[in-house]
Amino acid sequence: MEQDHFTTNSTFKKDLEPEDMLRVIFDYASKIANERLLDNVLMLMADMGREMIVSDRCTVWLLDTQKNELWSKVAHGLDEIRIPSSAGLVGYAVTNDQAVFIHDAYTNEEYKSYLQNGAIRTDQQTGYRTKALMVIPFRNSQGEIMGAYQAINKLTASEQFSDKDMEYLTLASSYAGKSLESALLTMEIEETQKEIIFRMGEIGESRSKETGNHVKRVAEYSYLLALELGMTQEEAELLKIASPMHDIGKVAIPDAVLNKPGKLTEDEFKLMQNHTLIGYNLLRNSTRYILKTAAVVAYEHHEKWNGRGYPRGIKGEEIHIYGRITALADVFDALGSDRVYKKAWELDRILRLFQEERGEHFDPDVVDAFFKQLPAILRVREQYSDAALANPIETNT
Ligand code: C2E
Ligand code: SIN
Ligand code: SIN
Ligand code: SIN
Ligand code: FE
Ligand code: FE
Repeated sequence: MEQDHFTTNSTFKKDLEPEDMLRVIFDYASKIANERLLDNVLMLMADMGREMIVSDRCTVWLLDTQKNELWSKVAHGLDEIRIPSSAGLVGYAVTNDQAVFIHDAYTNEEYKSYLQNGAIRTDQQTGYRTKALMVIPFRNSQGEIMGAYQAINKLTASEQFSDKDMEYLTLASSYAGKSLESALLTMEIEETQKEIIFRMGEIGESRSKETGNHVKRVAEYSYLLALELGMTQEEAELLKIASPMHDIGKVAIPDAVLNKPGKLTEDEFKLMQNHTLIGYNLLRNSTRYILKTAAVVAYEHHEKWNGRGYPRGIKGEEIHIYGRITALADVFDALGSDRVYKKAWELDRILRLFQEERGEHFDPDVVDAFFKQLPAILRVREQYSDAALANPIETNT
């Protein structure tokens, strides 16, 4: 994966010209400003630092004060990496609030013990050869150390970082502190929202004697369908977070109707249909995009592709794709489950209904996605089956 830059000097690079430096900073600053995912911000920061100072490797570490660890994300698809917060030079730098600047890790005396504990020991495991090394801690707006930039090996002929590089990385660090602080805050707000949404969804379902596993399954099905339909990971994730709210409006439906053992009268069903509008009105005024998504799902999950759904009777692509996806996920789960008013259906019967309703109740593309994802969907159904619930009293059989 990594080239060995020390067996040949034919691959040496040049330091950036000032205008290239500006371009790098502007390019990354705008990407970072548009990025909401903390992992991605970390990786962009690292790439920016690496390009600015022409180093071989650059890592942005964050201090997790709860676990006393430093963690980072170095590549898409890889797990985050974690080290004890006192480990190696990075640990030294954040613990002592001190920048570290080393020309050759193998001859350096000042930081010898940290190097043997960190960089050099890592080299022995990986076969990489660390030479030049810089670590610069950065702070949050309260002035507390929140992490560090670490750069390894200079790719120019000097093979050493200069004072200028130190300045540039310090600049990147001060910017990192601010951006990461806001990314961390966003993450915290979103975690809180996810939690609230899931709990609210559960309340909606528990009122109607459905279990928390129903919302969990609908969320997972919606996610699989969204990915199959070509949505980005991020958007599919958003729908997964928001879809448990589809029936939140049921909280306002009278018990006698909601939990009526038999078939609803026409009036009762009219009343029941209001759960879509009630949910929409609960959520629509939020400015948070997760709750806005949940509002769309609550509003449109009973619309039908052929226009015969409710509350508005809109049809085809007038119905938001989130609504079309959740509609199928919800019905699949409702049919496969016992309800107070009906027994669970056999899978074959459900699949037949979906074929019949392709282009009628449901978006044909969503039905096709469903059949493509059926094995994964059935695994989810198994994994979150009501029988697997920890508290069997919660299920209604
Ligand atoms: P739900 O139980 O979560 O059902 C969601 C949707 O799954 C239903 O939306 C319907 O499209 C589909 N579905 C569920 N069971 C059946 C079924 O036996 N046959 C068919 N063909 N489709 C089924 P829908 O009809 O708009 O109902 C919305 C909600 O109204 C239901 O949510 C449920 O809470 C309530 N509901 C509907 N019908 C009855 C009923 O006869 N008795 C009672 N007590 N509640 C009902
Ligand atoms: C994480 O464990 O991935 C986040 C820790 C943190 O926010 O500090
Ligand atoms: C580490 O991975 O422990 C940091 C490497 C070092 O700077 O020693
Ligand atoms: C479910 O969680 O969907 C099954 C329980 C019920 O339908 O009441
Ligand atoms: Fe509903
Ligand atoms: Fe539902």
